[in-house]
Amino acid sequence: MPTTVPTPPLLQVEDLRVAFDTPDGTVEAVSGVSFSVGAQETVAVVGESGSGKTVTALAVLQLLDGGRISGGRVLWDGEDLAALDRRALRRVRGNEIAMIFQDPMSSLDPLYSVGHQIVEALRLHRRISKREARERAAELLEQVGMPDPRRRLASFPHQLSGGQRQRVMIAIALACSPRLLIADEPTTALDVTIEAQILELLGDLQREYRSAMLLVTHDMGVVAETADRVVVFYAGQVVEQGATADVLRDPQHPYTAALLDAMPTPGTDRAQPLAAIPGSVPPLRAMPSGCRFHTRCTLAWDECGREEPVLHELPGDRGARCLLHRPGQERPLRAAVTTKGA
Ligand SMILES: Nc1ncnc2c1ncn2[C@@H]1O[C@H](COP(=O)(O)OP(=O)(O)O)[C@@H](O)[C@H]1O
Ligand SMILES: [Mg+2]
Repeated sequence: MPTTVPTPPLLQVEDLRVAFDTPDGTVEAVSGVSFSVGAQETVAVVGESGSGKTVTALAVLQLLDGGRISGGRVLWDGEDLAALDRRALRRVRGNEIAMIFQDPMSSLDPLYSVGHQIVEALRLHRRISKREARERAAELLEQVGMPDPRRRLASFPHQLSGGQRQRVMIAIALACSPRLLIADEPTTALDVTIEAQILELLGDLQREYRSAMLLVTHDMGVVAETADRVVVFYAGQVVEQGATADVLRDPQHPYTAALLDAMPTPGTDRAQPLAAIPGSVPPLRAMPSGCRFHTRCTLAWDECGREEPVLHELPGDRGARCLLHRPGQERPLRAAVTTKGA
């Protein structure tokens, strides 16, 4: 009988901490975050603005500007990314992990045609002639649903709509056939119709390229439509994680429940999805003691301001960072909500 060697996940983030040294002292933007992404899996990282999602994504790629990984590790295929030399890291970043940002205008060069930029991306990673690269660039533009792709090669970024620019970014990301695509709020700047098209496109391409995706979003609606698993961030920590269907059906952290309550009902116009949770993520310098969410939590009791909850493991490969799940304390969140409301 063959021995089964467990395959490590493609990406494994272990107890990651990220610190920024500022003139007023050091702040910690990510405080011990762990999650993984398996081959061909889609994992969403969701949380309000300021919860550390982008910093985490940049830390994964070792692209922190002005910040540093102050604890934990990022493993790619079981290999510690921080231990790679610059050349090896460039190879991973270019050939194996690609990133798409929220604002394509800031990643595209306004001075060059989109064709030129896709060709450059292709030739950075592959030994192919300019002619072949141009041919492939046109194919990629067609694949990302760009109307009239051949003619579009000559367009400059400012001549395209927001949705078309995001399609170009996706084409550039696909140029290296990445095993993992990190997309940081790829549709936040787009209107709701284009958002749906781009999400569908990402899903289609992901299946075609058999790549994994780490999708960063503040929108539970996007999570519901795309992700196999979800990791909920609050104030630099993971507060809940699990399979999307489970978390959506039966959230185990009051913050997740609040995010879901704030979701606009399908079919209605996109409201400000998270406006319904009063207050905002606390600034890094004024992090509350105890549970970081307790100042906004409708279920909080005195202890929540004193004791910092751990991420409790729950059945079904889930976890939640809330005192409600302390052994001996357990009561389902829904019951807790009902009790509180009664
Ligand atoms: N260069 C930086 N210097 C200091 N603080 C930063 C820097 N970049 C991000 N932060 C802080 O880190 C926290 C998390 O930011 P970010 O990851 O951008 O949040 P999100 O993407 O979830 O909206 C925020 O409080 C932000 O102010
Ligand atoms: Mg962000």
